[in-house]
Amino acid sequence: MVKLTCVQLLMVAFQATLITMSSAELPYNFYSSSCPNAEETIKNTVYNLIDGNPSIAAALIRMHFHDCFVMGCDASILLDSSNSNPQPEKSAIPLAGYEAVDKIKAAVEAVCPLTVSCADVLAFAARDSVSKSAGFSYHVRSGRRDGNVSKAFSVVTNMPSPFFGIEDLVGSFTRKGLNVDDLVALSGAHSIGVAHCSGFTNRLYPEVDTTMDSAYATDLKKTCPAPVRGAPDPVVNNSAVAPTTLSNQFFKNAVARRVLFTSDAALLTRNDTGAKVQENAADSLLWKVRFAASMVKMGNIEVLTGTNGQVRKFCRTINS
Ligand code: HEM
Repeated sequence: MVKLTCVQLLMVAFQATLITMSSAELPYNFYSSSCPNAEETIKNTVYNLIDGNPSIAAALIRMHFHDCFVMGCDASILLDSSNSNPQPEKSAIPLAGYEAVDKIKAAVEAVCPLTVSCADVLAFAARDSVSKSAGFSYHVRSGRRDGNVSKAFSVVTNMPSPFFGIEDLVGSFTRKGLNVDDLVALSGAHSIGVAHCSGFTNRLYPEVDTTMDSAYATDLKKTCPAPVRGAPDPVVNNSAVAPTTLSNQFFKNAVARRVLFTSDAALLTRNDTGAKVQENAADSLLWKVRFAASMVKMGNIEVLTGTNGQVRKFCRTINS
């Protein structure tokens, strides 16, 4: 694995420190005495799961993002529907990776029952998915607690849409305490994983978006016909190049106008975000440092600590 040098790691730690000073401070190594093997157990399980199915890396990274943007990083995304809560967050947008999270949590419960929160499991699992798929890692703060509230309508009001332009994207990230640098750096996650055609056929039909490379559009049309109500919704890779390797390829794709969503392409429509796209495309190491720092920052959004919330036994249900 490529390791970030001491100086680069210091930069990440310094940025993360500046960021977290202004909000609820989570410690490093929260489980050092209560569950010393927690992080190792999670990492081994995540690595095994990704070895068996590489798509799980993308799913776990996206899961952490969706968790943090709706009600903060509190594992509210994981709660199943129930009689008292028929429409939880997960009913609003389909996500992959719930079974993987069940397995990771079960592995931690086997070594330390009722100790490690589902919210921390998601943060560690995203970090381990990054290290497995990108070859670099970063320290994750811990001690998040699990929330008891999960509502589908909160997803609609908090998640950015793939049809957003730059101002809406920036607004959505700003409301979560993230800036334009975070928006751009984190968008690098679209170098891995897949997307359903319905998320970007607006750029293919009736006319191809002039900001999309025409050869790329022609390729996409082979998998994604003009949308018809009730027809299947196939998937394509987020990146046509190295689709299972998390890297700065997303930015190279953006510069080449070979990205899928209106929101991806929008990053080039403002001078400040466009400049960051160019920088990240040109300098892989710079992007890694920025991505790591932004993941740490994202993992600190509106966290529950202390005696707030609970540590769930099963991530899908509130403890009885
Ligand atoms: C900037 C605003 C963002 C928008 C509008 C957005 C939107 C989307 C959409 C529409 C998909 C395709 C889902 C599907 O069709 O199944 C997707 C996939 C994905 N997104 Fe984002 N996203 C954004 C930011 C992020 C961030 C910040 C991360 C993580 C740090 C992320 C990670 C991913 C990953 C890894 C996938 C692939 C998931 C998989 O293959 O299972 N996205 N995103």
